[in-house]
Amino acid sequence: MTHQLVLVLDFGGQYNQLIARRVRECGVYCEVHPYHMPIEEIKARNPIGIIFTGGPNSVYLDESPKVDSEIFQMGIPVLGLCYGCQLMAYTLHGEVKSAPAREFGKTETNFKTDSLLFQGLPEKGVVWMSHNDYIDKLPAGFRASASTADCPVAAMENSEKKLYGMQFHPEVLHTENGEGMLRNFLYRVCGAKGDWTMGDYARNSIIGLKEKIGDGKVLLALSGGVDSSVAAMLLSKAVGNQLTCIFVDHGLMRKNEGDEVEAVFGHGSMNINFVRVNAEERFLKRLAGVTDPETKRKIIGEEFIRVFEEEAKKIGAVDFLAQGTIYPDVIESGFGDAAVIKSHHNVGGLPDYVDFKEIVEPLRLLFKDEVRKLGTELGLPDYLVWRQPFPGPGLAVRVLGEITKDKLEILRDADAIFREEIAAAGLDRSINQYFAVLTSMQSVGVMGDGRTYDYTLALRGVTTTDFMTADWARIPYDVLERVSSRVVNEVGHISRVVYDITSKPPATIEFE
Ligand code: XMP
Repeated sequence: MTHQLVLVLDFGGQYNQLIARRVRECGVYCEVHPYHMPIEEIKARNPIGIIFTGGPNSVYLDESPKVDSEIFQMGIPVLGLCYGCQLMAYTLHGEVKSAPAREFGKTETNFKTDSLLFQGLPEKGVVWMSHNDYIDKLPAGFRASASTADCPVAAMENSEKKLYGMQFHPEVLHTENGEGMLRNFLYRVCGAKGDWTMGDYARNSIIGLKEKIGDGKVLLALSGGVDSSVAAMLLSKAVGNQLTCIFVDHGLMRKNEGDEVEAVFGHGSMNINFVRVNAEERFLKRLAGVTDPETKRKIIGEEFIRVFEEEAKKIGAVDFLAQGTIYPDVIESGFGDAAVIKSHHNVGGLPDYVDFKEIVEPLRLLFKDEVRKLGTELGLPDYLVWRQPFPGPGLAVRVLGEITKDKLEILRDADAIFREEIAAAGLDRSINQYFAVLTSMQSVGVMGDGRTYDYTLALRGVTTTDFMTADWARIPYDVLERVSSRVVNEVGHISRVVYDITSKPPATIEFE
């Protein structure tokens, strides 16, 4: 795969991933690496530009992350943001000091529009500032290209050497025309061609996968989630029936979900080997009488691996085990010697159990939204592409306490109504995750002339970008009302519906 590359060097700021996404949104491929990436490695990757992120430190402290000044001598354009800008000034013998007035938040700024960074953009605008230090003296050969009332050097540049810095954050939406500034850096300074499009990516990865896999056999655990579905689609286009997808239906999926996965990948609709294992009985048997959430999760994880292993054995040795690992799963953080690499928790452990030679991860370079774009590009239906995150243990952690087939049925029907109404209200893409939970609480109700003693259903809806923190979604009352009345009337055995108004933290998104 050949496309131009921009490297983002991570100095520990909070917007690192956002910078990478913005660059990619401009049609340029970009990777985030720790700030201490060796110069030889940088050269070997031949980037068209380098971006330094912000970071929490002050450059003049000994322990702060630094760079080798050679990075500024390579002729590769560099853009420093916030800490990255101060570091550029400091390394090139300018002066950085603690600012007399700390700037935080939206700040009115004046730009010199003869700068390549600000060309074609307005002379005044609001930017997002967040800094204690400022550049008191520019390095030799630099000029200030933007300023605010409190900050004479809001941006600086040495255009001859292609070195640029911004004290503010163009990557956040609060900065007016921030995308335009990044675009200017990429296209006017670095000479980007805009060769990162999903269509190109799809074509190139299909060619790459064909070359890598040759006539080998590939095995993929398909969960029906967006990542494994897109991986399956890509592999099927590359190697067709050399691919076998094993879909373990543990009976803990949402309404119709198993059939939807089968409709897309099974019945010969694609030229792949598709194995659906209906393992509901097995899972429910092992879960009978179990109430502790962690025990439930453990049982499901173990049983999943066992079923997968049994099926894999029937296929025999394979050359490649494919995984739907995506970029945020593999990313390294810029700090500490122990770089944190998250393992892909949905399929973690599988490689130990299956006889294969190599792993292939066709989505390793992509963010979630790019995986979705690719899925659409490859012709996957919207209901798979826009599927919400769904926990591996499925509805087992949404039926609180003991799981029974009856309770699962009740929850599936109620959850389907909730999803239908959210979609009908046009909220299905703005609320990032929403689902129903069958609590084990029973309470007294009255229906017709009779007394009822039925379950309480909890509805949960959250808005979030990273699922690490989340706010409860402000679902309009009339939508909640429609869900409540339909659930009680149509589902049976539910006499009360409540809406969860806790954020994460302190609550988690799932109940168990
Ligand atoms: P919590 O409940 O921890 O959930 O706030 C955060 C996000 O992770 C999903 N989740 C899981 N995903 N396997 C998964 O693949 C799991 O065991 C699991 N548990 C929670 C959850 O749905 C939410 O999106």
